[in-house]
Amino acid sequence: MKIAVVGTGYVGLVTGTCFAETGNHVTCVDIDMNKIEALRKGVTPIYEPGLEVLLTRNIKEERISFTDDLKEAVKEAVVIFLALPTPSDQDGSADLKYVLQVAEELSGMITSYKVIVNKSTVPVGTCEKVTAALSKKLSKDLFDVVSNPEFLREGVAVEDFLKPERVVVGSSSEKASKIMGELYSPFVRQGNPIYFMDARSAEMTKYAANSFLAMKISFMNEMANLCEKAGANVDWVRIGMGSDQRIGKRFLFPGIGYGGSCFPKDVLALNLTAKEYDYDFKLLRSVLEVNKIQKKLIVDKIRNHYKNNLSGKHFALWGLAFKPETDDIRDAPSLDIIEALLGAGATLSVYDPVAMENIRKKFSDRIGYGMNQYEVLHNADGLLILTEWSEFRNPDFDKMKRLLKEYAIFDGRNVYALEKMREMNFHYESIGREIVDHRSVS
Ligand code: UDX
Repeated sequence: MKIAVVGTGYVGLVTGTCFAETGNHVTCVDIDMNKIEALRKGVTPIYEPGLEVLLTRNIKEERISFTDDLKEAVKEAVVIFLALPTPSDQDGSADLKYVLQVAEELSGMITSYKVIVNKSTVPVGTCEKVTAALSKKLSKDLFDVVSNPEFLREGVAVEDFLKPERVVVGSSSEKASKIMGELYSPFVRQGNPIYFMDARSAEMTKYAANSFLAMKISFMNEMANLCEKAGANVDWVRIGMGSDQRIGKRFLFPGIGYGGSCFPKDVLALNLTAKEYDYDFKLLRSVLEVNKIQKKLIVDKIRNHYKNNLSGKHFALWGLAFKPETDDIRDAPSLDIIEALLGAGATLSVYDPVAMENIRKKFSDRIGYGMNQYEVLHNADGLLILTEWSEFRNPDFDKMKRLLKEYAIFDGRNVYALEKMREMNFHYESIGREIVDHRSVS
């Protein structure tokens, strides 16, 4: 099938590449010519495991190409995916200007039947708005607008796209649904379902899923805070409750709050949608509040440990991306934590396996940067672990002790076993577990 993907951001690029991988002919469009030039050479602007390999292969097989010419790209396409940014407006609602602008441009270009697919996360009612924009110059029988939300996770996006747990298609047109069914058939052949529903329900499904997961994490973050006070270990509580299949084991890991390009934006936007319909979504409001507070708690712990005087203290930070296997720092808890520590007068040396460039753009010479995880430990008053990258899981603890000034670890991701910390004689504070208090200065 011939496909056009408008927007080569995270979702657009993964969508285009994965559809090419299943034998379709894909043209990706973007207004950023530098990006187009790089993509033509197989260079992706994002760090996503497995993506470049697939991209290079499909460029070679001539199944995927890149252009800045929208008209040319959509000419022969049967399906046009809109994977455009929907940044948060000042009030947090999704700004649809890019989506509607492209829809208007398309309305003057289309000459044969097309399925226009909203792939970006967009509020309830967007399909209707896109339909209205397209209808300005285009006859109704030349297009259908479909909602097809994307559930992929950064870091495992290729796998999520190729083996989705489900595909959701919101459409009121049988013709469009049939085309979408054909397009997705290779991905759901293993038995995973494709759900056809109305567009409003599809749009709502995406927000509901992300907000529910954000709520699940926030519940565990609060549970962890209570465990600390009550002398329980949240790891055991998590395992004990997660074994109930109605709850499930996943997304029960407490930490320093959720971040990334989706959860923070989507919870905020859904809360605004609720307001728009005059509904007070109390749980969502709490999720927003809990996450805001959770990001600060690790800084409170540090303040507490250093008797409220962080001025002149130097800390090492391991992990800056909002989660492992990505260089994405959008809404990463590390950003708030860095600001808070700097604000309290501390100095910082940071390390992340892939997010260094992004962090450097943000903080430039306000913080120090290490080439590896050990370099940043030199003379530090303590170490903070903010992202659970695998390489932090089993470090050389003796080497760490030779480098650190104080053997203190503040772990925002519960990476280490308490016994190990006791054995190694670290002062160790984590989330929802007892403090291992073996403070000793070298
Ligand atoms: C999320 C959704 O999972 C995905 O379906 C949707 O399409 C986009 O948003 P992503 O933002 O890539 O994906 O990351 P995810 O793995 O969901 O993690 C989001 C945040 O929650 C991270 O900051 C992560 O550290 C945090 N998290 C996740 C926890 O704190 N605890 C957990 O148990 C799980």
